[in-house]
Amino acid sequence: MEQKIFYIKTFGCQMNERDSEIMAQSLSGYGYVEGMDVNEADLVILNTCSIRAKAEQKVLSLLGYLRKTKLSRPTMKICVAGCVAQQEGARLLARMPHVDLVIGTQNIYNLGPLLESVDKEGSRVVTDLRDDYDIPQFLPKLPQRKSGHSGKDRNLQSPSTFQFSKFVTIMQGCNNYCTYCVVPYTRGREMSRKAKDILEEVKTLVEAGVREVTLLGQNVNSYGRTNAVAGDGEPYSFSDLLKEVSNIDGLARLRFTTSNPKDLTDDLVRSFRDVKNLCPQFHLPVQSGSDRILGRMNRKYTAAEYLEKVKKLHEYIPDIALTTDIIVGFPGESDDDFQQTMNLLEAVRFHGSFSFKYSDRPGTRASLFDDKVDEGVKSERLAVFQKRQDEISLLRNSEYVGLVKSVLIEECSDNGAKGRTDTNHIVHFPDCAGHVAGDIVDVRIVHAGQHSLRGEIDNKH
Ligand code: 5AD
Ligand code: SF4
Repeated sequence: MEQKIFYIKTFGCQMNERDSEIMAQSLSGYGYVEGMDVNEADLVILNTCSIRAKAEQKVLSLLGYLRKTKLSRPTMKICVAGCVAQQEGARLLARMPHVDLVIGTQNIYNLGPLLESVDKEGSRVVTDLRDDYDIPQFLPKLPQRKSGHSGKDRNLQSPSTFQFSKFVTIMQGCNNYCTYCVVPYTRGREMSRKAKDILEEVKTLVEAGVREVTLLGQNVNSYGRTNAVAGDGEPYSFSDLLKEVSNIDGLARLRFTTSNPKDLTDDLVRSFRDVKNLCPQFHLPVQSGSDRILGRMNRKYTAAEYLEKVKKLHEYIPDIALTTDIIVGFPGESDDDFQQTMNLLEAVRFHGSFSFKYSDRPGTRASLFDDKVDEGVKSERLAVFQKRQDEISLLRNSEYVGLVKSVLIEECSDNGAKGRTDTNHIVHFPDCAGHVAGDIVDVRIVHAGQHSLRGEIDNKH
C-alpha cells in the first residue's frame, strides 16, 4: 500500500489531545504515517475546541489558510474533528467547501472507514451524538521505553521520543449544564468508561514504560454515577477507581482532572491522603467568588462551601498545590461581584489559575442573558486578577526554595534538564547527574520564578 502522510493539529483540552492520539493511531492501519509539516500532508486533521469564541476563530483562520494550500495541492484532504465539528456540522461544510470530512466527538473511532468513503463518494459530515453508547476500547500502542531519550512528540512513530506521562480518558460528556458552557452540546451526556477497560489501558501504558497517568473527565467526581462501570452493575465510585489504578504495579504517579466542587466528597478528599501515588495537586475550578454569579452560572455551590472544601483538603494534605479556573465578566457581574472573586483568591492563595473573559457560546443559557459586561471592563478585570495571581504564584513557588522535591525527569540534554514535581511544578536543573528521563529523583529547589522552579539533583538525600 502506498504510504500517505497525515498532519494533525490539536486545539483545546487534554481530552482532545487523547482523542488526537486515538485518531493518529487508527490511521496507521490505513496506510498513513504522521508528518510534522502541514504543507507536505496528504491529510490534515484539525481537532478543534469551541470553549470560547477565540478558540473557534483560531480554527477558522487555519481553515482559511488551508483553502489556499489546497488550491495548489487539490489531492490534499482536510478533516475537521472535535468540538467545533460537533457543533457546526453541516454548516461548517457549507461555509468551507474545501473541507472533506466533518467528524463529531463520538465518531473519531471510525476515522479510517470514513476517509475511505470520502475517497469514493466525496465530502461527508458525521456528527452522531448518542446518549447511550459504550466508549470503544482503544489500547495505546507505544514504543518500548528507550532509556535516556524523551521528548514532546506523541508516543507513536518515533522510538527516540517517549512521554513518561500520559492521559487516560475515563469519561465523556457532562450533565451539569453550567450556563456558560458548551461542553454538554459538543460532547453529549455524561458517560463513564468501564473500570476494567481503564485498568487495562493504564497497565498497557505502564508496561511500555509510562510512569505517570492523569485520569481525564469533565467531572471525574461523578464517575460511575450515570452508567454501570463494574461487573454486575454494583456501585463503583471514582475513589474506588483511584485505588485500583494506583495499585497497578510500576505506576509511580497518579493525577486526575477535572472536578466540580459541588461533587467533591469527603471520600475523595481522603483519597489524597490514602491512595498511594496520588500526587498532592488538585485542580478545582471555582469560576467566581460571588454567590450571586455562581447561582447564575448554575454551579450549585457557594463561595463559603468552596472555602470549606479547601480547608478540609488542607487538613488532610497540608502541602497540596491548588489550582483553579476563573471566568471574569460573566453577564451581570458587578464591581462588587468581581471584588468577591479577588477576595476568594486572597483567601485560598491558589498556586496557579487559568482565567478567562466570559465568552458567549451559541446554544448556552448565558448567551441569552441580556446584561452582558462591556469588553473593556472584562479586560480590566482579567488584568487585575492575573496580576495578583502572578504575585501569589511567585510567593507560593518561593515557599519551595530550600526544600527537596520529588521530580519526574522529562528531558535530559547537554543544555540542561527538565522535570515536574509531584505538585505539578516545572523544574529546570543543569544536568541529570547520572539519571535518565523517566527516573524520579530528589531535586533541591534553589530558585523560584512565577511559572517554574530551578534546582539541582540531590543524590545524597
Ligand atoms: N467563556 C469563558 N470561559 C469559559 N470556560 C468555559 N466556558 C467558558 C465561556 N463561555 C472556562 C471555564 C472552564 C474552563 C475549561 O474554561 O473556566 O473551567
Ligand atoms: Fe474545548 Fe471543552 Fe471541547 Fe475540550 S471539551 S475541546 S475544552 S470545548
